[in-house]
Amino acid sequence: MKPLVYLAHPRLDRSEISGPLFEAARQTEGITCVDLYATYPTFEIDVAREQRRLVDHDAIVFLHPIYWYSAPSIVREWQDLVLEYGFAYGKHGHALDGKVTFNAVSCGALETSYRPGGGNGAHLRDLLMPFEKTADLCRMRYLAPFAIYGAGRAVEEDRRKGHLAAWQGLLTALRDERLDLRAAHAALTLNDIAASHAAKPETA
Ligand SMILES: Cc1cc2nc3c(=O)[nH]c(=O)nc-3n(C[C@H](O)[C@H](O)[C@H](O)COP(=O)(O)O)c2cc1C
Repeated sequence: MKPLVYLAHPRLDRSEISGPLFEAARQTEGITCVDLYATYPTFEIDVAREQRRLVDHDAIVFLHPIYWYSAPSIVREWQDLVLEYGFAYGKHGHALDGKVTFNAVSCGALETSYRPGGGNGAHLRDLLMPFEKTADLCRMRYLAPFAIYGAGRAVEEDRRKGHLAAWQGLLTALRDERLDLRAAHAALTLNDIAASHAAKPETA
């Protein structure tokens, strides 16, 4: 499978999570990586080029921080322009049929906040419902989000290395078609599945 990772982070210079995850994806063989803000700093998205990229790949991953319960604005711009009627959906819009898609996100809030009764009142997957419904309309295979919670404390709590190993394990499993797509669709997050594919630390 050919995965395409779109990074959307408007302040990459300040990023402690999305930036390193993008770098890890870039260093993984067989993964195409596109930095949306760097490619389109004035939001002039080249629709034909992005549609060609979609056709050329089997899995589309949006890597971004959670901003205001969603993605940074360039992702919405990309959706509005690239997912055209007759290309992505509609009677004659079948270009994305069967392609896999999911969000890989970092969240400021803790996991305990992302549940009914928690501070955010809902699971992350439920808050990302517009992405799932968009994927459904485009006849894509939506997977649960890969999520790094409490992102602001990941470095000081020494969690980043583990997150990176899980992320790389997830990408290589996707690429090599070792990912159980049914389980990945059914889960609330991809975190446990990703962790099960993480490279094991070498033992002495
Ligand atoms: C404009 C803005 C909006 C944010 N909204 C949310 C939010 O709705 N939920 C949340 O958990 N964190 C939110 N955060 C925190 C970011 O998700 C967090 O800083 C980011 O995931 C850290 O990843 P990075 O180091 O790659 O930037 C927000 C941050 C900013 C700057």
